[in-house]
Amino acid sequence: MPRPTDIRIAVIVAVIQIGGTLGAYHHGAHGQRGCWWASSCRVPKPLDALAFVLLALGPLALVVRRAYPRAVLLAVFALTLVYVALGYLQGPGYASLVVAFVATAVSGHRVAAAATLLAGWVLFLWVPAALGITGAPTVLALFAIAAWLLLLFTGAEALRARKLRVVEARRARERAARRRADEERLQIARELHDVLAHNISLINVQSGVALHLIDQQPEQARIALSAINDASADALREVRSVLGVLRGTGEEPPRTPPAGMARLDELVSRAASAGIDVSLVRHGRPRPLPTSVDLAAFRIVQESLTNVVRHASARAARVQISYLDGELKLQIDDDGRGEGAPTTRGGGHGIAGMRERAVALGGELAAGPGPDGGFRVRARLPVDGAR
Ligand SMILES: Nc1ncnc2c1ncn2[C@@H]1O[C@H](COP(=O)(O)OP(=O)(O)OP(=O)(O)O)[C@@H](O)[C@H]1O
Ligand SMILES: [Mg+2]
Repeated sequence: MPRPTDIRIAVIVAVIQIGGTLGAYHHGAHGQRGCWWASSCRVPKPLDALAFVLLALGPLALVVRRAYPRAVLLAVFALTLVYVALGYLQGPGYASLVVAFVATAVSGHRVAAAATLLAGWVLFLWVPAALGITGAPTVLALFAIAAWLLLLFTGAEALRARKLRVVEARRARERAARRRADEERLQIARELHDVLAHNISLINVQSGVALHLIDQQPEQARIALSAINDASADALREVRSVLGVLRGTGEEPPRTPPAGMARLDELVSRAASAGIDVSLVRHGRPRPLPTSVDLAAFRIVQESLTNVVRHASARAARVQISYLDGELKLQIDDDGRGEGAPTTRGGGHGIAGMRERAVALGGELAAGPGPDGGFRVRARLPVDGAR
């Protein structure tokens, strides 16, 4: 289906070719009629129906030039050559040929376009001469027309280069947008993983405790149920806030402070309520962190403690936070079984997600068996203040 622009261009070229030729013909009927490019020329044949058909067919063919650039160029070339060879007045009849040529060159068929230019330079000057319509072309005209054709070729090349640049820029923009979308998706998946894994593991542990104790020690079961209540409310809140980011709403101001180091004690008390004795040690002078580092550090501690609760069978864990010059170091140790360590293959996303968070900030993370048994997670997050 031709585009409206292509139809408009075809109409404009038709008006130029037919109207311009008619104008030139009537003007020539009263004045000097010449052919500057040849030594002499015959009086042109009067414009008849065939002349108008030939003048109109070229522009008509242009309508499909995007789909068939080379075929259209060939057809317009042939139509124009027949028109010239029949001895009609040479007015602006080359307009459709120029448009077809530029379309072919811009669409990347440069050899076909250049060959047509060369053939045109020879045939359009020598065929009328051979048929006696004009005399031989002058040397000056040969050069002048060659120069104009060269200019046309250069112009078409410039257009082609511009089109390529525009297409490449659009592709680059699309690639960047896709990359951003992928990153965002991953980020949201990580957030949901950490929030859900953490709270649901706690709920799992506590509900086990509650079930076990409900008959003999209802008071203890009540504590476990209250921890379940807290963890589930927290999961709901955090999931809602992640979904809010996903929807791009954020119309509701957050009711709890965003996840960050300020909420570390919460993590510690949660793990404690799951029966792990967690100690939290801070080295260096605690200071405000860039939001991205703050969140990543919190999530790393969160997932490490979640893993302790889920996998370690540990009694105690130790979280160390070191505020150093230009970086934040985290270390989470436990005294559990510490085995099955780096078997992240087979589905676990927690350690991979922690590592991605650290690497995204220019840092690193290692997780594996601790030196004295148990399991150890160590992370280094650069804090350049610029993020
Ligand atoms: N503190 C730990 N003690 C013992 N093993 C651990 C500890 N932390 C992690 N692991 C082992 O490393 C594996 C990978 O942990 P990871 O957090 O990546 O996945 P997961 O916890 O199994 O699943 P997910 O976090 O995706 O819900 C765990 O399955 C477990 O075998
Ligand atoms: Mg995990």
